Amino acid sequence: MQNIIVLGAQWGDEGKGKVVDLFAERFDVVARYQGGHNAGHTVFIGEKKFVLKLIPSGILRPGVQAVIGNGVVVDLAALLDEMATLEAAGVDVKAQLRISNRAHVIFPFHRLVEKMSEARENRIPIGTTSRGIGPCYEDKIGRRGIRIADLFDPESFRVMYDVLAEDKKALAATFNLHDTIDYAQIRAQYEEFAERVRPLVCDTAALLARSMAAGKRILFEGAQGTMLDVDHGTYPFVTSSSAAAAGASVGTGVPPTKIDGVIGVSKAYITRVGSGPFPTESFDGGGELLRREGNEFGAVTGRPRRCGWFDVPLLRYTAMVNGFDTLLITKLDVLDSLEEIPVCTGYRLKGQEVTEMPATYRALEAIEPIYQKLAGWQTSTRGINCYDKLPEKARAYLKFLEDRTGVEVGGISTGPERNETIIRSGSKLERLIG
Ligand code: GDP
Ligand code: IMO
Ligand code: MG
Repeated sequence: MQNIIVLGAQWGDEGKGKVVDLFAERFDVVARYQGGHNAGHTVFIGEKKFVLKLIPSGILRPGVQAVIGNGVVVDLAALLDEMATLEAAGVDVKAQLRISNRAHVIFPFHRLVEKMSEARENRIPIGTTSRGIGPCYEDKIGRRGIRIADLFDPESFRVMYDVLAEDKKALAATFNLHDTIDYAQIRAQYEEFAERVRPLVCDTAALLARSMAAGKRILFEGAQGTMLDVDHGTYPFVTSSSAAAAGASVGTGVPPTKIDGVIGVSKAYITRVGSGPFPTESFDGGGELLRREGNEFGAVTGRPRRCGWFDVPLLRYTAMVNGFDTLLITKLDVLDSLEEIPVCTGYRLKGQEVTEMPATYRALEAIEPIYQKLAGWQTSTRGINCYDKLPEKARAYLKFLEDRTGVEVGGISTGPERNETIIRSGSKLERLIG
């Protein structure tokens, strides 16, 4: 009986959706533990493309229970939209989806607060997804947030809502922002939304405990990536939740003692969306090639992703804070045409070698990456699903990443579809997914 976390080892968009969908077949429950509809997890099933935002990717496997944990922030309008899209595609959402009664609710005014915060003078904008994620978590930590359970107690909800609305109106007035929000109408609308999701809402920690007692297996699906984690990421250019492995426990109520393994998903190179330090970003033809070959445009916002080379110190750092048992390297095929592939093997700061991840974004911005160039294989790896069939130079590239990061490369993805994946036989990854 093994419960496993799958999460991003970089700045998000590593291919978690594909990996979770692939593994979900072997699990009974897939649970999201943080983030909200800022996530965009792409899954291809044959010709059909799905982009999951708030709902765990496991929902695409019939019979798998999909759980939105207490650590997730839920925009009910976005949730209902996503449910409708999945239902139209034939997914039995009502049977499969359960939502934590302790999850916090995102209201439209959270987006207003985000706009104010991003536009503020002397503040470098984070380049958020503008989904109201940060301000909702602010209200949660500020102990004034509204949880899904609160929506079902109309008397208390109205009082809590009106207090929160007053706060936001005062903020808008302070910043001279023209606030056109109809607060009363939103309150009524959310009461109606709440009724629509009510049959799916429950104490999901209790549900997960019962599942485990019945011998069922849970797969935890991380959103964003470790370098966007509010504590361990490139603060302040992060999201507002605990994307790293420890967040799985906090964000679902499953105790750490019940979690058996952590799988890190990493691209064979690296990308980032939004602002913030990015030591191995490539501004020349290399970055352009990665964007083109990897189709690196945001799944949620459509923004071009910033692209660069695999960063060993960063991966070693995310392996340290997550305790990766194994890595699944995605998008190897994107590197197919390159003659040489730079890999960052170390950091220098003011001429000195750096052995720990700098804590400030200014230090990170000043990092001089040390590169080693590896030979490219210049032949197609697209769709290869057997390790021995990979070109020798591709295997050498993966071995280099394994040796330098100190973490097994247990799996490799060579295309967006389920069958375009290699699980290495005898690997920890193979054992963990069972
Ligand atoms: P997530 O947020 O981590 O789930 O990743 P996204 O869905 O935002 O971005 C990953 C993108 O890469 C999606 O468009 C996937 O379909 C695609 N993808 C995943 N794995 C591979 C792969 O091995 N090769 C290629 N070429 N594309 C992949
Ligand atoms: P998935 O799950 C990539 C980034 C935003 C911004 C920062 C904060 O698909 O990997 P937020 O709206 O969360 O307050 O924005 O985090 N960001 C992501 N980047 N993939 C994601 O999710 C992201 N979710 C948020 O671009 O820089
Ligand atoms: Mg994504």
